[in-house]
Amino acid sequence: MADTAYDELGVYTAMRTLRAVRRLRPDPIPGPVLERVLEAASWAPTGGNVQPWRVIAVRDRTLVKQLGELYAARWHAYSKQHMAQLEGAPEELRARTARMLAAGDYLADHFAETPVVLVFCFNPKLMAITDIKQSRVSVVGGASIYPAVENALLACRAEGLGCVLTTLLCEVEPEVRSLLAIPEPWATAAAVPIGYPVARGHGPITRRPVAKLAFSDRWDHVFRG
Ligand SMILES: Cc1cc2nc3c(=O)[nH]c(=O)nc-3n(C[C@H](O)[C@H](O)[C@H](O)COP(=O)(O)O)c2cc1C
Repeated sequence: MADTAYDELGVYTAMRTLRAVRRLRPDPIPGPVLERVLEAASWAPTGGNVQPWRVIAVRDRTLVKQLGELYAARWHAYSKQHMAQLEGAPEELRARTARMLAAGDYLADHFAETPVVLVFCFNPKLMAITDIKQSRVSVVGGASIYPAVENALLACRAEGLGCVLTTLLCEVEPEVRSLLAIPEPWATAAAVPIGYPVARGHGPITRRPVAKLAFSDRWDHVFRG
């Protein structure tokens, strides 16, 4: 990268403040900023360094609007079902979820104004999917795509851009394929709307503590550093 000023945000700070930002301003994102975000994505590791992913930076207003219509239909169905499932849940969880859903409604209702949507695609034929024969859902292929998505999210964080990883458009992949002229066998993995945040943007996140997530040597053995 020509300019190192963007390395100034520490990586730990970036990670612990990289929350989902769904309220985005329509202001355009300067080309060099977008290029840095995409370059960060390109640095991600992939199995065999094959890089079986591509990203389409969708800026065409008609296409973003069409993606937005598809997204809003999926979001409203998801949101209705999600809130119904919380019937009887603790008040604190209901309130947190309601805040997330309100932000999600905002994104769905304003999707057409999003300056850029990054649609990440992948080619399953280019991947060594080492868990494909297991009798459960296969996840290894995703490991050659989502690190690139995460790098793009972190770069957005460093650039002061809001963003959120979304996957609802994968439910309507044939429509997205046709809109964006994605050739077979390429498929879609995520759509990341990005833009400068309406309010504060990134900030604190709520996550389980390491003590609940990490073990020492064997499953369920308490981890100590
Ligand atoms: C695999 C995956 C799929 C997601 N899909 C969506 C989505 O379709 N729409 C959305 O608004 N957020 C989506 N999210 C964002 C999550 O809801 C968000 O990361 C999570 O609630 C944590 O929020 P926080 O980072 O603000 O704490 C997705 C996140 C991941 C990792």
